[in-house]
Amino acid sequence: MKIFVTGAAGFIGFHVAKRLLADGHSVAGFDAMTSYYDVELKRARLAQLTGQPGFDFTTGQLEDRAALGAALDAAEPEIVIHLAAQPGVRYAFEAPDTYVQSNVVGTFTLLELLKSAPPQHLMFASSSSVYGGNRTASSAETDRTDFPLSLYAATKKSGEAICHSYAHLFGIPTTALRFFTVYGPWGRPDMALFKFVRAIVNDEPIEIYGEGRMRRDFTYIDDLVDAIVALMGAAPGSSSMPADSLSPAAPYRAVNLAGGQPVGLMDYVNAIEAALGREAKKVFLPMQPGDVTDTHASVELLQELAGHVPKITVREGVRRFVEWYRAYYKIDEAEHA
Ligand code: NAD
Ligand code: UGA
Repeated sequence: MKIFVTGAAGFIGFHVAKRLLADGHSVAGFDAMTSYYDVELKRARLAQLTGQPGFDFTTGQLEDRAALGAALDAAEPEIVIHLAAQPGVRYAFEAPDTYVQSNVVGTFTLLELLKSAPPQHLMFASSSSVYGGNRTASSAETDRTDFPLSLYAATKKSGEAICHSYAHLFGIPTTALRFFTVYGPWGRPDMALFKFVRAIVNDEPIEIYGEGRMRRDFTYIDDLVDAIVALMGAAPGSSSMPADSLSPAAPYRAVNLAGGQPVGLMDYVNAIEAALGREAKKVFLPMQPGDVTDTHASVELLQELAGHVPKITVREGVRRFVEWYRAYYKIDEAEHA
């Protein structure tokens, strides 16, 4: 199939593109290569994809309608996987405009271009953060998402709402994929795993938010990619599934992508220490504004739609990240034994 992937030089986009190429699909990647974090890492990811048969890439901003339109016209995609965004809960205090530009205006621009040539399936990267201030034991897709606690969450919720209206008005079959804290090799330097490993390797202290009492439904990147691939063929149509979040008015549904098994932050830190064979110097800090205390996904719908069972434990996933980190940054294990 011909698949258009926005954010293809990003952490998740790179892994998705790599897998799709391995499965024999054509991939047209689109990414602005923003400087939110080390652009060299984005270039290195891209270098793994460039030159592979079936891969094409355009550097551009989503909000640049001419550039995005030209890339879409050339690609004629059957499936669009929309991952490009300004991510991160905490950076919105420094650069709020980029969230509105990339996540709201960017998503709107993509939909404006897709309405005249709807793909068979649009998959939009949403976030566990849309559950915000909801206080349920585990978050189901039919739960309310009216209480965002960060601007990032508010822009993801906006993206879902814009997608729903275009699904209704222009018949674009759309799935909002609600990702839960994704981690693994080639990950994002602003996220806990990367920050903690880098600090420990450099003998610097790590900052542990929420006094270490938070929990996350961490999702290993390969499990996430398996789920996305399995859902590609499950564009929303009719449904008889009891747990379904299908819209009553449009070919649209939201699906949680997670393991369904939350892990405590200190267990995550322990797994990192075990993988590195070193103890971290720990500084405990209060909850950061915008953060949520815990995330826990109901994965019933994901299992019904994709038959998806996550395979990788946090201990194994963290070990694989550390292995990649050491190889990528050429860190001599003996030096840090
Ligand atoms: P990432 O930052 O590594 O990738 C996003 C990519 O989008 C980057 O390469 C960036 O250059 C590009 N980009 C940003 N703004 C752009 C714009 N205006 N136009 C074109 N390209 C632009 O992040 P990621 O972790 O790979 O996240 C991918 C998607 O998944 C994002 O939508 C993010 O919000 C969502 N998400 C991620 C997680 C996670 O834990 N990693 C969790 C929930 C949701
Ligand atoms: C992650 C992504 O960064 C968001 O883009 C995404 O929207 C969100 O997942 C999601 O699930 O929707 P977060 O859970 O904060 O957000 O991911 P990490 O940065 O990996 O943080 C994991 C945990 O470690 C959190 O409890 C966080 O507060 C904590 N943390 C993070 C620290 O204790 N110290 C740090 O320096 C960084």
